[in-house]
Amino acid sequence: MFKKLVAAGTVALTLAVSACSFDVNDSERGDNNAGSAGSAPTYSGVPQSLSDRMDSFAIVRSAKQGKVGVDAKFFALRGVTSLNGETEKFILDALKRGGAYDGRKEFTPVPTPSADRANVQSFINPPGQATADPVAPTSAKDGGNDEGAIKVKNDVVFAGGRYVVTRARAKVNGTKTVRLFVTDMEKDVTVPADKLFVDTPSDDDLDDLVYDQDAMPKYKGTEQVWDKLTDLGKDVSKSANTETVAKDGRVAADFSCALVPCVAITYDDGPSDDGLNEKLLDILKKEHVRATFFTIGQKVKRWPKETKKIWDAGHEVENHSLTHTSLDKLPAAGIEREIVETDKAIEAAGVPKPTMLRPPYGASNHVLDQVSKRYDKRIIRWDVDTLDWKTRSKSQTITNALATAHPGSIILMHSIHKSSVEATPEILDSLKEKGYSPVTVGDLYRGQKFDAGYEYFCRGYHLALCSTPEHPWVENHK
Ligand code: NI
Repeated sequence: MFKKLVAAGTVALTLAVSACSFDVNDSERGDNNAGSAGSAPTYSGVPQSLSDRMDSFAIVRSAKQGKVGVDAKFFALRGVTSLNGETEKFILDALKRGGAYDGRKEFTPVPTPSADRANVQSFINPPGQATADPVAPTSAKDGGNDEGAIKVKNDVVFAGGRYVVTRARAKVNGTKTVRLFVTDMEKDVTVPADKLFVDTPSDDDLDDLVYDQDAMPKYKGTEQVWDKLTDLGKDVSKSANTETVAKDGRVAADFSCALVPCVAITYDDGPSDDGLNEKLLDILKKEHVRATFFTIGQKVKRWPKETKKIWDAGHEVENHSLTHTSLDKLPAAGIEREIVETDKAIEAAGVPKPTMLRPPYGASNHVLDQVSKRYDKRIIRWDVDTLDWKTRSKSQTITNALATAHPGSIILMHSIHKSSVEATPEILDSLKEKGYSPVTVGDLYRGQKFDAGYEYFCRGYHLALCSTPEHPWVENHK
């Protein structure tokens, strides 16, 4: 019955962050223990869809002058919010216990140089092969006895059908913690892995959980038998013989931007029916990226089907006013009309009512803030302006998008220019290569305060990024 073990993977999650001041030149390579990236073999048993979903990240920070050192590699699984949420809780807890915040409220994720990033394949071990100790020293220089060092890692223990079993381990000041999870990727539900077994073993017992060639889970050297598995355990075991099911319909947030360095991708001024809309949607689909489209009400009325296509493809469709006028020049009643008429057009196209507004030209004032609050709109500005509308140049758009993007950025582009659409693949590929996850604005702010009537320029990983005199609203928004 269980003739095929679909996947026993290992996804290294070693998270290391130092909250102290950091000199790039002194950074250490800390990811040598995740398998040899570059020469890693491909394991045919790993469902392609699982490996497609994995985004690997490494945050490498060195400990300096007695400060806490954090060295982290981890993965996010697209479309699996529940697992990523559990993983995040585990990691943040480990960081907190280890004092990684160093007086800060949040740690500062820094995208790892591409050479230091582990690729997805390097996370995956051949079936049956034990995982390398994630908390073992990675080198003499990065030895395991450095005081205050925090190391975090997770593995994919098993993946079959719609299930994935993962393990997260942390070592903080010499103390190890382990958590195991079972995730139903289709339902996006994650539960503790002891639910696989009738006798509910502890996390420590489960630490060496393996699946044998019959896809039967075992732990601590016990002889596992079918009757010792719960219904869930039996389902997971059986699922080794099925295809991994991609989650259909609306994809929930893929990972948490509290942990992963995210960049929001936004397109203004659509929709259009000249083929560009469609082309852009194809590109985003191929790139596995969801974006936020700020659409103009008049155009939505004219092209409702194109509007619906954007939504159906998984993207956010939001409000960019009715006539693309400067809202700061209008009285409250005029602003209301611009917002409400656009909302109506979008809803008439079969798309849910927007919760975000991007004022044309970024022009806003206090009246707009107040009206936006009344109509449940978060005002979304940007901090990376590609000037694509001005240059109409593919290469300039790429350069501008990448030059100043940082964790938490919102990149402004326009879906109505051919050059912008054509620049998109390279922009997304380069962002990913730098360690960023391109996301929607909604995903960028998930888990943070995100209230109607306030203006947002970027997610504040670094307080300074969102608190320049130019952007006082964000800092004032406690
Ligand atoms: Ni515009």
